[in-house]
Amino acid sequence: MANKTKFQAIKGTRDLLPPETELWNRVEQTAREVFGTFGFGEIRLPIFEPTELFARAVGGETDIVSKEMYSFEDRQRQFPDLDDLGKLEEFLLAVEDAYKTGEIPQTPWNKGMIERVRLAFNSFRDTRDELNAMSEPSMEKFQEYAHYSFSASHWAHLTKLGDEISLRPEATASVCRAYIEHGMHALAQPVKLYYVGPMFRRERPQKGRYRQFYQIGAEVLEAITPNTDATKSLGKDAAVDAEVIEMVMVYFARLGLEGVVLDINSIGHSAPECRRGYVEKLKAALEKVKDKLGEDSKRRIETNPLRVLDSKLESEQAIIEKLPRIGDHLCADCAKHYAELKRQLELRGVAYRENWRLVRGLDYYMRTTFEITARGLGSQNAVCGGGRYDGLVELLGGAPTKGIGFAIGEDRVILSLQEAKKAVASGDPDQVGAGRRVASGKSGCDVYVAWMGKTAEATAIRAARDLRQAGFRVELPPVEQKFGKALGQADKLGARYALILGEDEVASGEWTLKTLADGTQGKVRGAELVAYLRGKK
Ligand code: HAM
Repeated sequence: MANKTKFQAIKGTRDLLPPETELWNRVEQTAREVFGTFGFGEIRLPIFEPTELFARAVGGETDIVSKEMYSFEDRQRQFPDLDDLGKLEEFLLAVEDAYKTGEIPQTPWNKGMIERVRLAFNSFRDTRDELNAMSEPSMEKFQEYAHYSFSASHWAHLTKLGDEISLRPEATASVCRAYIEHGMHALAQPVKLYYVGPMFRRERPQKGRYRQFYQIGAEVLEAITPNTDATKSLGKDAAVDAEVIEMVMVYFARLGLEGVVLDINSIGHSAPECRRGYVEKLKAALEKVKDKLGEDSKRRIETNPLRVLDSKLESEQAIIEKLPRIGDHLCADCAKHYAELKRQLELRGVAYRENWRLVRGLDYYMRTTFEITARGLGSQNAVCGGGRYDGLVELLGGAPTKGIGFAIGEDRVILSLQEAKKAVASGDPDQVGAGRRVASGKSGCDVYVAWMGKTAEATAIRAARDLRQAGFRVELPPVEQKFGKALGQADKLGARYALILGEDEVASGEWTLKTLADGTQGKVRGAELVAYLRGKK
């Protein structure tokens, strides 16, 4: 009996099918076009990276790193079962060797584990020999034997035979890693890069939130030259931030995304006279109202007090409104940068809303943070998040470097465009103009080639080839069909034309072309078909 298990996409992942994928391609193509006009080039990054890269960049205490990453050990070998002593001994020797050569990660952890496996294994082997030599094995010896067997296998399992790697939950860390790895500080600065691709986070799936989702992101990196006057370059930095934000807004406008709202904030920089001082004040204020807060916020007072500001819990809103605000505690440089950012956005005609509670869930930000929401998405309505991250490249082992960027949630952009289109179709007056520029949603077929008879088959194959070469989307049935059935099929596919090729058409060279929308049909000379259809495009 064949196994009847039905496989399904894993929870939180999904298949994207035509015709919807056409919209995805259009959304990505538009990003490439718009970002190109701002001087960005594409970077393609690996899907997995060392876990440590994300832990260091995004932050070990963040939800993303502490709860949501898909991490695994990239092991090339496996400890064999303890039953096979010979194999185990051989394997242990190989592991010890591989550790010495660095093939197995040379961490203090692994050093300790491998030593423990060795000790337990030696004792296990000795007790086993002793047991075998006993005419009447004692219970104590058996217990000893079981104990060492358990220990050897326990320590073996804790040894990290391969590197700890994770599916990327975001791509900013990878872009910085690549910037360092390829010595991009030596290129003309700033380096402007964009990326498109899947990210992975183990979140609770819901509308607009998936475990495999897609981001379209962009980053601007600029090596800090020695002797740069940090205060003097604040204006320049703010202009770069504003241009990056302007670029996303231009892109969303080009897509026809509806109800786009930009929120901005400055979270200062990590210094006692700036954010660190503010966080202390915030913590003290939170301690005073602790009893009125929910469990998550209570915990965050210790782990990450800024994240309390993010809370959506209804009962906490009035309390949060009364908390100290970061805007009142920025240092002079950060305040100047923020004021300049707002001026720069105004110069560019970019409308924004100031939101002092916008802190973002990743640790690398400083100064500018921003988020963009759009219509039709329910609670998961953030379509883009970003900010400045000076110092991140340095944190990852590079030279002092500035950074600013964003990532757009492509799944959500698509959802919002689809919702807008639905609203237009149902005549929702709130949605004036919505979805105008959204893809038609049909993968479509321009010409359905209906043919009957052996001679027509050859003509049909040639006609399909010529039409496709000219860029038309053509459907050619693999076997002959009665014309009635073929036309039904052409209709189902939404074809614009049916080309009808029977014996008569082939003999006369006058082909029949039917326009499916109105049912009219006429004759076109075979040799002129491509030119004729081009004229109709
Ligand atoms: P993020 O806010 O974590 O930022 O993600 C950016 C966007 O990705 C979100 O606004 C949302 O649209 C989308 N997104 C996040 N998680 C999911 C999910 N589970 N399902 C669907 N969409 C999701 C970052 O990732 C930063 N790397 C952005 C950045 C780039 N900052 C500076 N440069």
